[in-house]
Amino acid sequence: MDKIQIGLIGLGTIGTGVAKTLLENGALLEDRLGFSLSLKGIADVDITRDRGIAIPEGMLTTDANMLINDPEINIIIELIGGTDPAKTFILNALKKGKHVVTANKALLASHGKQLFDAAQTYGRDLYYEAAVGGGIPIIKTLREALVANNYTFIYGILNGTCNYILTEMGEKGSSFAEALGQAKELGYAEADPTLDIEGIDAAHKLALVTSLAYGVPPDMKGVYVEGITNLDKLDVTFARELGYKVKLLALTIDRGSKVEARVHPTLVPFNYLLSKVDGVFNAFYVRGDIVDSTLFYGRGAGMMPTASAVVSDLADIGRNILAGIAGRIPHLGYRKGSSVPKRYMPIDDIYTNYYLRINALDKPGVLAKVAGILGERDISIVSVMQKGSEDTDFVPVVLLTHEAKESNMRSAVQAISKLSEVSGMPVVIRVEDRRLKNKKP
Ligand code: HSE
Repeated sequence: MDKIQIGLIGLGTIGTGVAKTLLENGALLEDRLGFSLSLKGIADVDITRDRGIAIPEGMLTTDANMLINDPEINIIIELIGGTDPAKTFILNALKKGKHVVTANKALLASHGKQLFDAAQTYGRDLYYEAAVGGGIPIIKTLREALVANNYTFIYGILNGTCNYILTEMGEKGSSFAEALGQAKELGYAEADPTLDIEGIDAAHKLALVTSLAYGVPPDMKGVYVEGITNLDKLDVTFARELGYKVKLLALTIDRGSKVEARVHPTLVPFNYLLSKVDGVFNAFYVRGDIVDSTLFYGRGAGMMPTASAVVSDLADIGRNILAGIAGRIPHLGYRKGSSVPKRYMPIDDIYTNYYLRINALDKPGVLAKVAGILGERDISIVSVMQKGSEDTDFVPVVLLTHEAKESNMRSAVQAISKLSEVSGMPVVIRVEDRRLKNKKP
C-alpha cells in the first residue's frame, strides 16, 4: 500500500489530536483513501511531557528542521501558531518540496499572500481547513462545494470563547468579567484571552473567509473589528427584552465593487438560526445566489474537532500526491482573481440598523431633542423603550433605528452626548434584522 509520510511540527493540543486521530482511525483512513497517512516524525520544544498518547520510540525531536530536511517526508503540518518561526518553517518546507498543512489563521490572515504565492512558485499545496471554524469544513465548502455561487453574504459566529461569554451573560445575567472568569475556569479562554475577546481571532478567520468568497487578498486592515470587552450586561438584558441575543458576529457582504468585512457585537433576533448557536459552538450562515441559504454548525475549537480538519487536509493532499498533481484547487478559491475586483468598504460607509442606549433625564422634550439629532442625519427611529427608575433622575432610553449610515450614527452619538440632559456616551450596538431594513434613506 502507498504511504504518505508526514512530519508534525508542534505537539500541543491540536498536534496531539492529529497524532491520536492517525493512530486511532488509521485503518478507517486506509480503507477510505487506499493509502496510509504515516506520521514519520514530531517536533516540539518539549518532548518529555506526557500527552496521553503512545508515541513510537524515536519519533520525537526538538529540531523542526530535521523534519523539513527529511527527503522522505511529503507533508509538513505546522501547528505551533504565531508568526515566527512558523512562517519560516512553512516557507522552508515549501522550498524543500513539501506540501504544508497549517491551522495558523493569524499567520495566513496577515502573510497569506506571500505564503500562497510561495506554494504556487514551488508547485506545492498549502492547506488550512483547521484555521477557520475548527471542525466545520467551511474552507472546502466555500472553495469547492459552493463553487457555483456568488456569495451574497456570509455571517459567522467564529469565536467560541466570545460566544460562551455572551451566552453566559444572556442566560445567567453575568457581567462580562464574571463570564470571562467562568470561561477561563472551564479552559475555554486562554490565560491571555486578548485575541479572542477583542475580536481579533474572529477577524483573522473572517479575513480568510472574505478572500475565499470574493477573491480579495487576505487583509486584516480591511476588516473592521470591535470586541466584546465593553459590553454591559444591561444591554444584553435590554436586547433580550426586545427579542434579540447579542452575538459577536463576523460579516462579509457583497456590495458590488466593494466588500464589507466586519466583526462586532450584534443584536440577532431570537428567531434567526444564528441566535440559537450558543456556548462554545461556531456557525456560518452562507447565502449563495444559486444555492440560497445554508447553515454550517459545529465545534470551532478543541483537540479532536480541529484534528478532524487537519487530517482532512492530509487526505486531500495525499490523494493529489498519488495522482501526481498539486494546485488543483486554488488556495484562495480563485485561479484568475475576481473579474469584479473588490475593495474593502470603510466602516463609515456601511448601512445597518442600530440599537442605541442613552442615559437621559426623564423630563419633557429630551426625546424630541434626541429624535431631532437623529432626524437631521437621516436616521429613522423604529421604536423607543424607556426603563423607569425611581431613585435617579437619569433613565436608560433604548432606541432601535432603521438602516442608517455609520458615519451619520457616529456624528449623532457625539451630538447626543453633548446634550445637557444626557449623561455619558450613548451605547451603540449594530443590529442584523431584516424586518428593520425597509427604510433605507
Ligand atoms: N480561541 C478560539 C475560540 C479557537 O475561542 O474560538 C481557536 O481559533
